[in-house]
Amino acid sequence: MKDLLAVEHLSRDEIERILDRAESFAEVGRRDIKKVPTLRGRTILNLFYEASTRTLSSFEIAAKRLSADVHSIKAAGSAVDKGESLKDTVATLSAYDPAAIVIRSPHAGAAEMVSRWTEASVINAGDGKHEHPSQALLDLYTLRAGVGSLEGKRIWIVGDVLHSRVARSCLLAFNAMGAEVTLAGPPTLIPRGIEALGVDVAYDLDRLGEADVVYTLRMQMERMSESYVPSLREYAMRYQIDSRRLGPRQLLMHPGPVNRGVELAPEVIDSAQSLITTQVESGLVVRMAILYEVLAGQDRPSVRAAAEPVTDPPTIGQPA
Ligand code: CP
Repeated sequence: MKDLLAVEHLSRDEIERILDRAESFAEVGRRDIKKVPTLRGRTILNLFYEASTRTLSSFEIAAKRLSADVHSIKAAGSAVDKGESLKDTVATLSAYDPAAIVIRSPHAGAAEMVSRWTEASVINAGDGKHEHPSQALLDLYTLRAGVGSLEGKRIWIVGDVLHSRVARSCLLAFNAMGAEVTLAGPPTLIPRGIEALGVDVAYDLDRLGEADVVYTLRMQMERMSESYVPSLREYAMRYQIDSRRLGPRQLLMHPGPVNRGVELAPEVIDSAQSLITTQVESGLVVRMAILYEVLAGQDRPSVRAAAEPVTDPPTIGQPA
């Protein structure tokens, strides 16, 4: 696999291969020296045009644990502030012959465009409302550890589905692994016709009790150009997950960042049923597995690299 652009391009076998590899990296993370030489000498560039805490930090740490050289560029403070286009930015960064570019953009399709402008592998770290594939993979990894097989499991995705790239990637990923997905939220925040993707839709939480997993979404105010709900208070009254709505056997997930008191009540965020911190932990090993998949899993040296000395074969499990 050269690029990771979208869950919609992944087969179930590819998903399972990445999750299996993430498990072996979890073992590396339990060692005193949490570093392997797999990507020694490779350069990874993180290009983030939107804010991020979890995705950016975990891709950075993942690259370092694989011994890659990593550099992160945020739009604010870069030449983007002077009007440089995405295409010119990618051409500039490609001059350093990176092995991979990890890109987050507010524009749907940006990662796919970047993949056409560079020889580097491209990983989509979130493109507008389109997809956030590494989030969906880390959520699958978290659930595999928490509930085992997803075959026949009922997962409710609750909240602002309309603006959520996480919802789109997750529903595709959960469906691919055999789960039954229901999308729930106000009619204004559920895209029309989304049932065509093989999901159920609910406009209230009356049947929430049937869910094995409740996956909540952030209200994405920054993407809302108009008012989709009468008020956040009213939204919270109808859709907030609190200790009355979350049953004792249900697991709770959220991709973060959480708007405390809006989509989630504080008592469930910090409850034993919450997998939110586990999701963050999973992000590191899954992103190591993604970098491995697109870089060590390929036989695709760049034109310049072909003239350079042969490096060590990719290995998992040896300390750097
Ligand atoms: N879930 C997620 O993408 O979080 P960040 O915006 O902090 O990266």
